[in-house]
Amino acid sequence: MNIEAFFKLTYGLYIIATKNGNKLNGYIANTAFQVTADPPQIAISCSKDNYTCKLIQSSQIFSISILNQNAKSETIGLFGYKSGKEINKFEDIEYITATTGSPVVTEDTIAWFDCKVNKMVDVGSHILFIAGIVDNDILFKNEKPLTYAYYHEIKKGLAPKNAPTYIDEAKFKSTDNKTQSTLQKYKCLACGYIYDPEVGDPENNIPPGTAFDDLPDDWTCPTCGSPKEMFEPI
Ligand SMILES: Cc1cc2nc3c(=O)[nH]c(=O)nc-3n(C[C@H](O)[C@H](O)[C@H](O)COP(=O)(O)O)c2cc1C
Repeated sequence: MNIEAFFKLTYGLYIIATKNGNKLNGYIANTAFQVTADPPQIAISCSKDNYTCKLIQSSQIFSISILNQNAKSETIGLFGYKSGKEINKFEDIEYITATTGSPVVTEDTIAWFDCKVNKMVDVGSHILFIAGIVDNDILFKNEKPLTYAYYHEIKKGLAPKNAPTYIDEAKFKSTDNKTQSTLQKYKCLACGYIYDPEVGDPENNIPPGTAFDDLPDDWTCPTCGSPKEMFEPI
């Protein structure tokens, strides 16, 4: 199998959120896609290991927030690398309550859907939830949605194990023909982001050529917001 063919599939990035009883929770997804036009239905592929999965199985409702291209790393870190089993992700986040009762994250969002599950399909590690649209709206008509390619190439973000598109790095190491840097690269243990001194972190004003040790003490992972201590040399 040529693993690189999978890289040619294209996706967006979304926050899927639900409410079950009093618990609000959500996760980052790159898999949300329209499956029919009449009636309009959208499907999501949710890992059984995600806390949100159990909540949606019970509530049968969820919202989809389409993330803005400039979505904050902290938002992606909070919803994509932490679990609602341990924290309340909605404590400090802007949201509205949709018709079904699902919270809709409005921070870093350009449009949203409020959905009611029509069908659940068990596909092994994940459950496909196929849902009808109860309501939707556009918040910022002229802003661009964040694509998975932009997140990967510009923001240098990766997908963790629970994402259906997760790639085991060991499998494609041999195809990585980047020249070895003389400066040490460091990897974030929380999300897998790699700090490459040759590239720096331009989004956070860290110029190319800055060694990891020379990063400011308060520098945090641009993907998930973890502190420097979470990094190890690779
Ligand atoms: C870029 C990215 C894409 C992801 N895509 C998916 C996805 O499509 N499906 C999924 O189940 N998890 C996906 N995840 C993983 C979940 O967001 C992650 O496991 C989250 O911490 C689950 O939170 P929860 O346990 O509170 O539900 C993705 C994460 C990232 C960062």
